[in-house]
Amino acid sequence: MDKLHPLFVHPTQKLWNSQLPRKSQLVYPLFVVDGENQKQPINSMPNIYRYSVDLLKELLEPLVIKGLKAVLIFGVIGNEDKDEFGSMAGGLGKESCVHKALRLLKQVFPQLLLITDVCLCAYTSHGHCGILTKDGYLDNQASIKRLSECALSYAQAGADIVAPSDMMDNRVRAIKELLDQHPNLRVPIMSYSSKFCSALYGPFRDVCCSAPQKFDRSSYQLPPGSRQLALQAAERDLKEGAGYVMVKPITAYLDIAAEIKRRHPDTLLACYHVSGEYSMLHAGAEKKLFDLKRVVLEYMEGFIRSGIDIIITYFTPELLDWLE
Ligand code: PBG
Ligand code: ZN
Repeated sequence: MDKLHPLFVHPTQKLWNSQLPRKSQLVYPLFVVDGENQKQPINSMPNIYRYSVDLLKELLEPLVIKGLKAVLIFGVIGNEDKDEFGSMAGGLGKESCVHKALRLLKQVFPQLLLITDVCLCAYTSHGHCGILTKDGYLDNQASIKRLSECALSYAQAGADIVAPSDMMDNRVRAIKELLDQHPNLRVPIMSYSSKFCSALYGPFRDVCCSAPQKFDRSSYQLPPGSRQLALQAAERDLKEGAGYVMVKPITAYLDIAAEIKRRHPDTLLACYHVSGEYSMLHAGAEKKLFDLKRVVLEYMEGFIRSGIDIIITYFTPELLDWLE
């Protein structure tokens, strides 16, 4: 067999690019709860906690000093506060810990980019991402109206970007139309455009207690095998006015990310390295199958190589040290 080009292995002249992300490309997901002095561990996710708003400053200060630029905020509420409309998600005269967190963080860290997840599943009694009809089907029209109200309420509380993760049809347009009626806000939309119906969201649903009561989400999340639907979804969301699109999960879907980037080179492309992807790397490292830092950096290089611009990952705190 021919030898590889000798320069490929020459120590002084690397012909390949090192493709680690910059710290400014990382987004840290935050789970916020009501109450005071709350730091609630999550069994299925090592080092991840639900925090009450009063502890957020303490949590984020050292990270901001290390170079954290953006967070993605999720609210978690008790079952007693959930109803069929997800009233606590905002826009119906009620506010949650998310609105409080937005106001506080805007004040304490004016430079930190506050991205807010927009969905109903953590707030509805049935646990689905939209509004249901009397017969238990998804009511798309009612859902996107409701989601728009939530997005507007987050924007008014200080969100810099709203990120709808519900997967209802044409929700980006509905949100955009409502936000456009408030031109002083100027809040772009980061759409979870290519979100697959994945087995890897389990730990997250533990965190948010947001597993659907009945039926799964396969009627509104994408089938893992469908490349075409995932590409069409990104295309549609950009046409409807999304500022950013996303692929989620990412490890098994790098082909989708690379193709979206190829078709839309000027659009910032985000990926969500989800809870299951996080927990399985931890589990493997704990079993001594591999070194955690090495394996995480290897995945990050893969994401960057595929053309991803923004990486939402629970490994952000570690990466802020490792990328030093
Ligand atoms: C729900 C939502 C999900 C995640 C973010 N928002 C998953 C779901 O469909 O249950 C997943 C995040 C993760 O697994 O880390 N709208
Ligand atoms: Zn949801």
